[in-house]
Amino acid sequence: MTPRLREAFLRLPAYPLADVPERRRRLEARGVDVIDLGAGDADLAPPPAAVEALRSAAGDRRYSRYAFQAGLPALREALASWMLRRFGVALDPWSEILPLIGSKEGIAHLPLAFVDPGDVGIVPDPGYQAYRGGMVLAGGEPWLVPLRPENDFLIPFGDLPADVVRRSRILYLNYPNNPTAAEAPLAYMEEAVAFCREHQVLLVHDHAYSEIAFDGYRPPSILEVDGGRDVAVEFHSFSKTYNMTGWRLGWVAGRRELVGALTRVKTFMDTGVFLGVQAAGAAALESWEAWVPGNVAVFRARRDAAVEAFGRAGFEVRTPRATMYLWLPVPGGEASASFALRALEEQGVVILPGAALGEGGEGFFRVALTVPEGRLREAAERLGKLAGAGV
Ligand SMILES: Cc1ncc(COP(=O)(O)O)c(C=O)c1O
Repeated sequence: MTPRLREAFLRLPAYPLADVPERRRRLEARGVDVIDLGAGDADLAPPPAAVEALRSAAGDRRYSRYAFQAGLPALREALASWMLRRFGVALDPWSEILPLIGSKEGIAHLPLAFVDPGDVGIVPDPGYQAYRGGMVLAGGEPWLVPLRPENDFLIPFGDLPADVVRRSRILYLNYPNNPTAAEAPLAYMEEAVAFCREHQVLLVHDHAYSEIAFDGYRPPSILEVDGGRDVAVEFHSFSKTYNMTGWRLGWVAGRRELVGALTRVKTFMDTGVFLGVQAAGAAALESWEAWVPGNVAVFRARRDAAVEAFGRAGFEVRTPRATMYLWLPVPGGEASASFALRALEEQGVVILPGAALGEGGEGFFRVALTVPEGRLREAAERLGKLAGAGV
């Protein structure tokens, strides 16, 4: 007997890049030099202070015990003081901040506290798949809104159908945005807060890329917008800022009732992040001012090299002020999945087809700035050979 799968489970979309490792293995076995610009997972090292803190925590048995949801007091305090310093947002470390096993975990679990069957979550399309997956698994209905260049890759609230707005419980926003690399002006964030207040919607702001910004741009927090604290929670991550993707550490910030609801869900699901990783997180935050600018400079140099090289190779390219991505139109009207498949099979370059992050991403592909400049130039040159050749 095969157990029957849940109807909601069957509605989950395929996860992007799932078949890449296998294809890549086959190509490399044939001697192909593969350049991987697929996942947002840079080749760079974490801050030495974080590595050292983890090393010493590993030998200290106090860190080997359960973290529980309270976690390491020093991390909570470091997070609260960083949020104050960076955004001017004062938070109580014990009730308005919660460490997460990576921000994805918290994002995906959040709807379990706020969504009943039939409730709607307004989800950017293309978008990080945990929004959609979390909604579906909670029994809710994701309402996908295409992010298009003509709207500056923002969700136009005025265009949402009244019935959808009425049933909405959550609005997901992510600026600076993955995958489009778009930013949201402050006026738009104010509009989002007003929309959520009027319609009693929880605003979930995913701020994974808050620190990867260039040319003097400092992405604001939704919690510093007037009234933002009333309607919003904000998810943050150590993954991109500190090159700690595999360490699994993030946090959510917001008012007590909202953060408390997610804390209660997680109490039944996990027992916290390894305390040694939390100590490393506190050390990483302490190194923010001294260490992060150098890391961002690496991404900026890569962005500049990639923008120049893709432009020269014949692609239409914008210069983003934030994130580790370029979001490029697929040349010649080819479907993004077909272009990405040819990129890998014919040129040994892994890119993310726009449609892998939702139908709204069709017509585009994403390049991640996760390899050195020389490799980005080489990738652009190889992909340039495909442009216009396939259709
Ligand atoms: C937009 C966005 N949100 C959240 C995450 C997840 O980050 P974490 O590693 O903290 O789970 C990512 C990772 O790629 C992301 O791109």
